[in-house]
Amino acid sequence: MKNILSVNDANKTFFSNGKKTRALSNVSMNITAGERVALIGASGSGKSTLIRAICGLEVLDKDGGAISINHQEIQSHGNLSKNVRQIRNEIGVIFQQFNLVNQLDVMTNVLIGICPQKNLFEIILRRFSLEDKARALDALDKVGLAQFAYQRSSTLSGGQQQRVAIARALIKGAKVLLADEPVASLDPESSRKVMETMVSLTEKLDLTFVTSLHQIPIAKKYCERTIALNNGSVVFDGLTQDLNASILASLYGSNLGDLVMDDDLNYLQDTSISESKLTLVQ
Ligand SMILES: Nc1ncnc2c1ncn2[C@@H]1O[C@H](COP(=O)(O)OP(=O)(O)OP(=O)(O)O)[C@@H](O)[C@H]1O
Ligand SMILES: [Mg+2]
Repeated sequence: MKNILSVNDANKTFFSNGKKTRALSNVSMNITAGERVALIGASGSGKSTLIRAICGLEVLDKDGGAISINHQEIQSHGNLSKNVRQIRNEIGVIFQQFNLVNQLDVMTNVLIGICPQKNLFEIILRRFSLEDKARALDALDKVGLAQFAYQRSSTLSGGQQQRVAIARALIKGAKVLLADEPVASLDPESSRKVMETMVSLTEKLDLTFVTSLHQIPIAKKYCERTIALNNGSVVFDGLTQDLNASILASLYGSNLGDLVMDDDLNYLQDTSISESKLTLVQ
């Protein structure tokens, strides 16, 4: 199977206000095309730093290993590749806050995905070719929102806005969708729609989906693989169904109750889940 994303021995240290924080510590992972992977871990465990490093928004330490997308190194040893812009086309990134321009219509927000080289003035004047517009409509159709193309983004619900953000990630032909807590600001029904959109897209378009999540039930429902970070280190990498009570307790401690729903509490108490199934990374 084709390896689409590799992180090799990633280290990231922040220095701020005289304080040193090791946000990523020897993080390695190989993700195969078509996988859906949840990144979990307590607040501050390094999920966002890892996602930002994968898309080249955060530069790793000099001894910080390397990250490759589709066999092209986006960064290594503290340097971004000179082809970073071109490699970024392989990745679509989705954030908790949607990052849409509220005053612009949905179509224009999607078109922003293919024009990092255009300035805001050109975007506002909507200097796009017919072909670009057809691609935007196609991307909107894939997330089920073609009928909203000419509506202002601010008039859409949170879940619809997040699906516009997905269309914006799709329009440039990205093969890997990276998301940082994409449903954290949404109600359960909107979260379900956004996650189901992601799942059907990964299946239809053969995309790879890597997402940080705070909600364990969502990881269990939509992502077959989970990678857990604790203080910047990978402590679990395996099938989501094999996450068990002890690993979750070690990740979240007393906050665990906030992250699981009732059916998960039953699941957590299910002692038949075998410890031996866990792939604990030492
Ligand atoms: N720009 C920065 N400057 C200094 N420290 C930072 C910076 N960004 C992140 N950190 C620190 O790095 C660590 C990892 O942060 P990160 O945002 O990656 O965690 P996270 O797992 O995404 O947390 P959350 O679940 O709260 O979003 C934290 O200790 C954080 O304070
Ligand atoms: Mg974060």
